[in-house]
Amino acid sequence: NLLDIVINNDVDLEGYGACEGTLACSTCHVILKQEDFDRIPDKPTDEELDMLDLAYGLTERSRLGCQIY
Ligand code: FES
Repeated sequence: NLLDIVINNDVDLEGYGACEGTLACSTCHVILKQEDFDRIPDKPTDEELDMLDLAYGLTERSRLGCQIY
């Protein structure tokens, strides 16, 4: 599940998920390992991508954690 992914990636959880999953922040930005990224079935929505653009340190394997189920 996502928590495993977060832990595996050493994400700093402080302030994580400030908007509680409403796509109004980028504090849940996670950079996934390729294998995890590939394992996620759904593609990011336009809304997620817009918010990811604002995220610090955006990478090709970035997602917003609150949008990963
Ligand atoms: Fe704010 Fe995910 S918790 S966008």
